[in-house]
Amino acid sequence: ESTLGAAAAQSGRYFGAAIAAGRLGDSQYTSIANREFNSVTAENAMKIDATEPQRGQFNFSNADRVFNWAVQNGKQVRGHTLAWHSQQPGWMQSLSGGDLRQAMRDHINGVMAHYKGRIAEWDVVNEAFADGGSGARRDSNLQRTGNDWIEDAFRTARAADPDAKLCYNDYNTDNWDWAKTQAVYAMVRDFKQRGVPIDCVGFQSHFNNNSPYNSNYRTTLQSFADLGVDVAITELDIQGASPTTYANVVNDCLAVDRCLGITVWGVRDTDSWRSEQTPLLFDGNGNKKPAYNAVLDAL
Ligand code: XIL
Repeated sequence: ESTLGAAAAQSGRYFGAAIAAGRLGDSQYTSIANREFNSVTAENAMKIDATEPQRGQFNFSNADRVFNWAVQNGKQVRGHTLAWHSQQPGWMQSLSGGDLRQAMRDHINGVMAHYKGRIAEWDVVNEAFADGGSGARRDSNLQRTGNDWIEDAFRTARAADPDAKLCYNDYNTDNWDWAKTQAVYAMVRDFKQRGVPIDCVGFQSHFNNNSPYNSNYRTTLQSFADLGVDVAITELDIQGASPTTYANVVNDCLAVDRCLGITVWGVRDTDSWRSEQTPLLFDGNGNKKPAYNAVLDAL
């Protein structure tokens, strides 16, 4: 196969990219994205601040720009993200307690209703665990509404769109030896045991010199899959874009039956949120980098 999406499809997987609404007018960007990828995640346009800028007033203009571009070009869409401590609109940042809990449910219901039946996977909850060795939940206004906020979000999401796969998504959960990984693993195991609706776990996989790819990544993916959930690599970028590391990530996904697919977090290095790390598969001129060929060969 000659594109990433077509190559991934040979094993029933997808290869996606984060797409920025503001770049859809850039023809070099859209021609690469349309050619190479068969799944799309909105980089920012489906987040809470973008979709509900005032309480109860939903705005899907940028979200629909990305969504419609994807669907019109035959791509599936990953929804990102419904409940998160970051990129909250000002009104939500100032809420707490039962009022915030209800606002979270209303937000999930409002956004999922708009895309009902049209989103393959939703990142329902993003980044709820703390960094470091504590294995604790991250402190946030959502966490302070009560430890059950995550399962509340998943139950709300299941009722809002029963056809979407519901994912928990996080970073620094790829190294099996890390406390944060084990804490998320324990939560997912508990959810499965108690019947809390969760279908998938997303591994952001923003690899850099402080949190590099580790060869136990495959063990992590398989261990989560063995709990009875799908896994996905949701925001892949690698500082320096080592071809070997990119190929390792692809091989690890392919080795795990329940690995649904891979999404890279941007198209060209100049589109990346970490552009100084040149972490992506295309350079700023739209040329394929060595990492691109390594990924295509591995798929
Ligand atoms: C990033 C976007 O790439 C940036 O454009 C934005 O300024 C901040 O958010 N984890 C996530 C993503 O789940 O939503 C983040 O995306 C990167 C880290």
